[in-house]
Amino acid sequence: MNKEIYARRRAELINQVGDNDIVIVATAPEQSRNGDVFFQFRPDSDFYYLSGFSEPEAVLVISPGREQGEFVLFCREKDPFREMWDGRRAGLEGAMEHYGADDAFPFEDMHEILPGMMEEKEKIFTTVGRYPDFDSQLLSWMNQIKQEVRRGKHAPYEIVDLNHILHEQRLFKRSDEINLMRKAGKMSALGHQKAMQVCRPGMYEYQVQAEMECEFRRAGSHYNAYPSIVAGGENACILHYVENNAVLKSGDLLLIDAGAEYQCYAADISRTFPVNGKFSPEQKTLYEIVLAAQQASFEKCQAGYSWGDYHEAAVAVITQGLLDEGLLKGSLDEALETKSYTEFYMHRTGHWLGMDVHDVGDYQLDGNWRELEPGMVFTVEPGIYVSASSSADERWHNIGIRIEDNILVQKDGYENLTELAPKSVADIEALMAP
Ligand code: GLY
Ligand code: MN
Ligand code: MN
Repeated sequence: MNKEIYARRRAELINQVGDNDIVIVATAPEQSRNGDVFFQFRPDSDFYYLSGFSEPEAVLVISPGREQGEFVLFCREKDPFREMWDGRRAGLEGAMEHYGADDAFPFEDMHEILPGMMEEKEKIFTTVGRYPDFDSQLLSWMNQIKQEVRRGKHAPYEIVDLNHILHEQRLFKRSDEINLMRKAGKMSALGHQKAMQVCRPGMYEYQVQAEMECEFRRAGSHYNAYPSIVAGGENACILHYVENNAVLKSGDLLLIDAGAEYQCYAADISRTFPVNGKFSPEQKTLYEIVLAAQQASFEKCQAGYSWGDYHEAAVAVITQGLLDEGLLKGSLDEALETKSYTEFYMHRTGHWLGMDVHDVGDYQLDGNWRELEPGMVFTVEPGIYVSASSSADERWHNIGIRIEDNILVQKDGYENLTELAPKSVADIEALMAP
């Protein structure tokens, strides 16, 4: 992505910050895996959204009205020895040339330079509470400035959570972001297709996972957006099952919930299909209910409907289906009123999607579900889960189904970013046919 995009994002943010305020955002700390080995590094989403900078040990500062330029990046200096061991660094010049920083300083010198930039500012906007070590660092810099009050210095008097404004901005995806999300959706869909094509009874869940993730990588994704859920049979009734180490059995369903991340944007797809390629009558019955629930939800994924509407649409179809098949008793109104359906459908129908798989942004405004607006992206993921310990007749046991797509609200209607992943019974059975 070109650096003008990030400059536009910073400009949009600055519009909402006072001239005497300062924005300070740290990237994520590296996490030790063991010894001197770290987990794969992923930059902080807010930090990356505003900078496009993906190295660890970096802090960005936006200081409106700063004479030498508003955008300052603290980052690692170039170091041929360390770069030989750990990889390339942009360095200070790279930070200015490639990322549009007006000034760049060594990360190690932040203690000396940043307190000076904070003096005389009124408010600090920062991602409060995200990284406790950085929070306490900020507080100690504020104290440091306060100790110099007799020399005429003023410390900022307020620390404001940046989330409130930045996350509202991130909630509305611009065309550059939508293009990346389309790509993430497409490459993830190809992986799900691949999983259906290779799946055979006797394979381990992690082997299907490997084939799917290979397709993600082949299509250009470096990382998954979250740990893949590859859950055969009863494991599908564990919503966030990630052990993925069981053998897949003929006659069981396989639920896969997995998405690729592309340039820090997530896809989040769930598909459910029979391990042996053919749905049993019970599996097909419940599957068609979930599919119909998703379709009913889609009708409400349009500007003007509220965040609550599409969930309620899915709940109504699932509940009616469970009543029709005898898994629930009573009338539709009673079942909705008592929420008896939550024995089989216990989660909401979706969440915002963006740089984070469970993306940022408020779901309610003034105590009401907010209205859908163009540019919002979210998942639509109804499901039915019948565990062996449920009240349902045994013939339904260990059927766990989730069907999840990623929806962009447009001016008129919506776009399904993940429709390439097959999901009708006929398409799945055709793809899996020997
Ligand atoms: N993959 C987690 C979720 O669907 O929310
Ligand atoms: Mn998911
Ligand atoms: Mn999801």
